[in-house]
Amino acid sequence: MTGSTNALRRRAANHIMQRQLTPAYVLEPVRAALGGTITLDPCTEPDNPTGATRFYTAEDDGLAQPWGWADSIYVNPPYGEARDAWVKYAASLGASGTRVIVLMPAHTDTRVFQEALSAATSMVLIKGRVKFGVLRENRRQEAASHPSALIGWNVDLAECEHLGHRFTLTNGSAVQEESNG
Ligand SMILES: C[S@@+](CC[C@H](N)C(=O)[O-])C[C@H]1O[C@@H](n2cnc3c(N)ncnc32)[C@H](O)[C@@H]1O
Repeated sequence: MTGSTNALRRRAANHIMQRQLTPAYVLEPVRAALGGTITLDPCTEPDNPTGATRFYTAEDDGLAQPWGWADSIYVNPPYGEARDAWVKYAASLGASGTRVIVLMPAHTDTRVFQEALSAATSMVLIKGRVKFGVLRENRRQEAASHPSALIGWNVDLAECEHLGHRFTLTNGSAVQEESNG
């Protein structure tokens, strides 16, 4: 198990398994929680599957681009070694007031998950495994091998609460559990 996890983490950024596209049943509530528009998707495919107003692809290297101009950002980071840097970039903008939502594995024991929560305002622990749209020739959807969470900064994720348990956070601590899935 450790071997396969490490193999996934070491895959190149353009590896097909890094392209875990957000399924519509998650994407649309995320868009609604951001006020109806994703202004920036900083890590995506050239055909802009999230319909963001602006987007960066692997060729642009979204991590090297500015994000601070955007007022609503959705990040579903590449599933590999670099994920922590994406989450940290998103969290830093969230801490300075931008509306940001990150979809990430709900590995609650990891440093990056704990850091992400420190200034977040809302979290949804998604029930079941997300069925990502993995880009394959047959466009097959596969359930993720990990649980997932939506973490929000300066949003309340109320539109996403039907996906699981929603928590409102202040300084990284849950002040209220808003739903019980
Ligand atoms: C998990 S997918 C998310 C795709 C899309 N944003 C979505 O939610 O459906 C991660 C995407 O990041 C892209 N990617 C990988 N490295 C990148 C980089 N350095 N800059 C921008 N995008 C990158 C991959 O090609 C892939 O399309």
